[in-house]
Amino acid sequence: MKRLILTGLMLLTAPVSLLASGGMHLDKADIDLSNKASLQRGFKYYTNYCYGCHSLSLTRYSRIGEDLGIPKDILQSEVIFARDEKGEPVKVGSYMKTAMRKSYGDQAFGKAPPDLSVVARARGSDWIYTYLRSFYLDPSRPFGVNNTAFDNVGMPHVLWELQGWQELKKSEHGEGHGGAGELELAVPGSVSPVEYDQIVRDITNFLTYMAEPVREKRLTTGVFVMLFLFVFFVAAYFLKKEYWKDVH
Ligand code: HEC
Repeated sequence: MKRLILTGLMLLTAPVSLLASGGMHLDKADIDLSNKASLQRGFKYYTNYCYGCHSLSLTRYSRIGEDLGIPKDILQSEVIFARDEKGEPVKVGSYMKTAMRKSYGDQAFGKAPPDLSVVARARGSDWIYTYLRSFYLDPSRPFGVNNTAFDNVGMPHVLWELQGWQELKKSEHGEGHGGAGELELAVPGSVSPVEYDQIVRDITNFLTYMAEPVREKRLTTGVFVMLFLFVFFVAAYFLKKEYWKDVH
């Protein structure tokens, strides 16, 4: 019976996950939201390599600082490079909006870089991880790259210095799309493939935290709530017994 229910559940959920990934093979991100060091590195990579184009406009720097254990003065001196319209350094309490205008983004990339606050919920962590590993050389594209997870992507391969350049293994392109498995490294970057995967995992970890910053807190609160309800239930039960013991 148990097996039957399990199979039923799997049949029900399989099409959903297939739909979410567009039927494409995705590499496993194996993220760990309790790994603060990884989240801190991910945040650092994000501000260095992504934030110039992609805002995180639902969040303040200070909020991320508190969650990830980064003191305010470090945030101000080492993380925040942006300046406001008066030319003053942006304050830690500000929202993480980029200076790039949508009209400029549309013009420069064909499609303006979207805000990535909740992209991990929209696309899933495995998709982001796969996407960042799947850029390959394609001279027919404006920036000279395409992506097996995102056909005709408008984004340049911003991590090329780290990863290097990949090529598609098969020449005919269009079928069997998906994942970095079809790609091979043509020009090595400054880090090894294993190190590159870890960097991408850190960024994915950070974006997953970003999409639901209260997740960790929600889980621990949940445990306390259940414990409280249990203790309260026991107390209520004995109280009821006490009150009703003389009523026949
Ligand atoms: C030079 C500007 C630029 C930089 C820097 C950049 N991106 Fe992008 N990104 C884009 C553009 C443009 C798109 C939209 C592509 C399209 O729709 O064709 C995009 C799309 C994306 C998407 C897909 C969003 C969606 O759901 O459609 C993700 C995820 C993403 N970028 C992540 C990143 C990450 C992570 C970094 C840093 C490592 C980064 N980007 C750096 C320009 C940039």
